[in-house]
Amino acid sequence: MSLVADTARPATTPDMAELAPFPAGPLLTEARADAEAVALAWEDGARTCLPLLWLRDHCPCPACRHPQTRERLHVPLDEVSTPPETRIEEGHLWLCWEDSHESRFAAGWLHQRRPEAPATSPVPARRAWREGFTPVRVRHADFLTPEGEATWLEALLRDGLALIDQGPLADEEVSRLAERIGPQRPTNFGARFDVRSKPNPNNAAYTAIGLALHIDLPNWRQPPDIQLLYCLENEAEGGESLFADGIRVAEALREADPEAFRVLSEEAIDFRFQDETHDIAVRAPVIGCDAEGRVVELRFNNWIRDTLRLPAERMTAWYRAYRHFWQLLHSPRFQLDFSLAPGEMVAFDNRRVLHGRRAFDPNTGARHLQGTYLDRDLLESRLRVLSRSRR
Ligand code: OGA
Ligand code: ZN
Ligand code: ZN
Repeated sequence: MSLVADTARPATTPDMAELAPFPAGPLLTEARADAEAVALAWEDGARTCLPLLWLRDHCPCPACRHPQTRERLHVPLDEVSTPPETRIEEGHLWLCWEDSHESRFAAGWLHQRRPEAPATSPVPARRAWREGFTPVRVRHADFLTPEGEATWLEALLRDGLALIDQGPLADEEVSRLAERIGPQRPTNFGARFDVRSKPNPNNAAYTAIGLALHIDLPNWRQPPDIQLLYCLENEAEGGESLFADGIRVAEALREADPEAFRVLSEEAIDFRFQDETHDIAVRAPVIGCDAEGRVVELRFNNWIRDTLRLPAERMTAWYRAYRHFWQLLHSPRFQLDFSLAPGEMVAFDNRRVLHGRRAFDPNTGARHLQGTYLDRDLLESRLRVLSRSRR
C-alpha cells in the first residue's frame, strides 16, 4: 500500500515516482492519541499535535484516495471522537479507527505537513522595484534549458518583468515560447496579436501614436495576467518601451496622498471596449486591494476608461486623485524605458506593471511586435514542475 497521503508536492517532497517506499525524512519516535488529537514526536526533535479529523481526512489508503489520480475520495462528514488504536510501525504511523478502517502515514510526509513546518515554495513573493531596478535578461538559448527557464520564471513572478534576448527573428516565436509554459490566453484580439500600425485600427496599439502607461484589457473581469511582447522589427524612429511598477507607485501615492489612494481604491468606475462584434465592460476601482489592504492589481488604461459614472459631488475628488496618480506613474523616477531590439521579448505582469511606448514614425522604418498572454497559474505551475527535477 502506498504511504503517500496526497498529490501536493512542496519543494521538499520528492516527485511521486521517486517516493517508493516512503518519502525521505525523520522517523517517528512517539505517537499518542486522545479524544481530540494524536501527539507525535520525530527523531529530529520535532513535535506536533494533529486533530483526529485531520488525520482521518488525509488517510492515504486506496479507498480514501484514488490510487491513480491521487485525488481525495473521502468526504469528512463524520465526527471523530474515539481515539484510534495508535502504533508506530518501522518509524511510520499506523492508526485503526473505531469502524476498523486502517490508515498508514509516512513519517516524512507528516513531518513536512505538520502545522509548524516552515512553508516552502519555489514560487517567489512579489518584490517592488527599487531605485535603479534592472530587469533580469535570459538568453533565448538558455531559456530553452530548465535552469534558464526557471531563472526567467522566478524573475518574472518576483519582479513582474523579465526579458529574453538573442532570439530568432521568426514569425510566431512568441507562441512557441509561450506554449512551453502553457496554452495562450485568448481575448477579443485573438490568442496571438500583431502590434504594428494598421489601416482601420480597432485599438490605439495598432496605430503609431504614443501609448501612455496602461494595463491591457482592464475592461475584463479577469484581465490577462502575463503579457509577452516579442520584437521582430524595430527600425522606426521612436517606439521605445515604457514600464512602471504599479504596486510601487500605488504605495508611493498612498504615502504622499492617502486621500487620493482611498478614492482610487474605493470608487468603482467603468471600463469598456466596443467594436462591431464586442462590448466588454466591467466596473471596478483603479487600485485593487486585498482584504488586508495590500495593493494587488491595477486597472489603469485611459483610452478604454468609460464615462465616469459617479455621484456628481464625488467626481471632482476622483479626477484630482487620478491626476495625482497619473503624474506619479509617469514621473521619471518610477519609469523604466528601453528600446526592444529585434529578437528580444519582454514579459510582464499585466495586472501589476504598467506598459506603454513612445510614438514612432512609420515612414522611417518598420516596427512589428507579436504578443500573447498567459495565466499566472501556468507560470507558477511550470516553476513547480521544473523545481522537481532541480532538487
Ligand atoms: C499593446 C501595447 C506596446 C508597444 O499592444 O497593448 O501596449 O510597444 N503595445 O507597441
Ligand atoms: Zn482510508
Ligand atoms: Zn498594451
